[in-house]
Amino acid sequence: SDTLRAHAEARGKFIGTAVATSPLANESAYRTIAASEFNQITAENAMKWDATEPSQNQFNFSGADQIMAFAEANGQQVHGHTLVWHSQTPSWVQNLGADAMRSAMQNHIARVAGRYASNPVLKSWDVVNEVFEENGSLRNSFWYQRLGDSYIADAFRAARAADPDAKLCINDYNVEGVNAKSTAMYNLVRSLRAQNVPVDCVGMQSHLAIQYGFPNIQENMQRFADLGVEVRVTELDVRMQTPRNTTKDATQATYYSNVVKACLAVSRCSGVTIWGFTDRHSWVPDTFPGEGAALIYDENYGKKPSYTAVHDALAGG
Ligand code: G3I
Repeated sequence: SDTLRAHAEARGKFIGTAVATSPLANESAYRTIAASEFNQITAENAMKWDATEPSQNQFNFSGADQIMAFAEANGQQVHGHTLVWHSQTPSWVQNLGADAMRSAMQNHIARVAGRYASNPVLKSWDVVNEVFEENGSLRNSFWYQRLGDSYIADAFRAARAADPDAKLCINDYNVEGVNAKSTAMYNLVRSLRAQNVPVDCVGMQSHLAIQYGFPNIQENMQRFADLGVEVRVTELDVRMQTPRNTTKDATQATYYSNVVKACLAVSRCSGVTIWGFTDRHSWVPDTFPGEGAALIYDENYGKKPSYTAVHDALAGG
């Protein structure tokens, strides 16, 4: 059939979307499109620490299991997001001392990644998310303040122990083009792998905006691929100043097309995940007032030019 997922499968890539639990439960149009157009899904929030371990050692997998069941029912892969992050992590974690924080991190990874380790639908994890500052130094997060850089290698080793079959990723934003931040990521990945730390994959979030220009993503993907790591686009969206118009929609469509084409051109790029699919449900307007319309369906589930761009790129047009 003529869906995004059918064309992606023919090219040996995934085309994914983030999904949120509330519209998944409440809106049939949301479910229909998520199931029919995408062969991979990522929980937008449901697998994060604040959702899965709100109090120490009290785990709640209701949202995560809902996402897993949807994927199983629809023949989709799941990308786990995310085990260790500075955001959406409860204050009980942030207030621990160094030894207790390291133990809590290892326990969290063992329990969350361990829960889905035997489920073949769960293929990969973002083990650490957004560990860099824009200038390429390590982010001065509570993780770094308490544990130094060691938490990163420890997190990957714990994730490998919990789920030996999952691809383990480091994920960040503003690392799509060649720049100080992506070069820091390149150097860290090379150094971790030289120490046999199990880093399999690099995720480029790709929260793009038409007013800031298009990054040299293919060149950047290729230098990571040449290290022997898998690369993937994990959270693609292309925002604009609202309201939409024909010109902005056309520019956005070109951005979407060029991201998909970059992944198709790099054999170690496994696929592209879009951070949602409908402008009805997007993080962008909450975070960037006056911006939005970042996705490939409009607020009424109508296909936008950016849908056609992704479709035609995957179909080889
Ligand atoms: O669940 C509560 C709800 O109970 C409450 O009534 C409501 C009131 O604000 O908030 C709800 O929580 C919100 C949550 O999304 C679930 O909808 C949070 O406020 C809101 O901050 C949170 O935003 C998420 C954001 O991460 C938080 O950092 C976005 O949905 C999600 O798209 C976004 O995703 C991140 C990736 O994980 C990492 N990369 C960047 C990307 C965009 O920020």
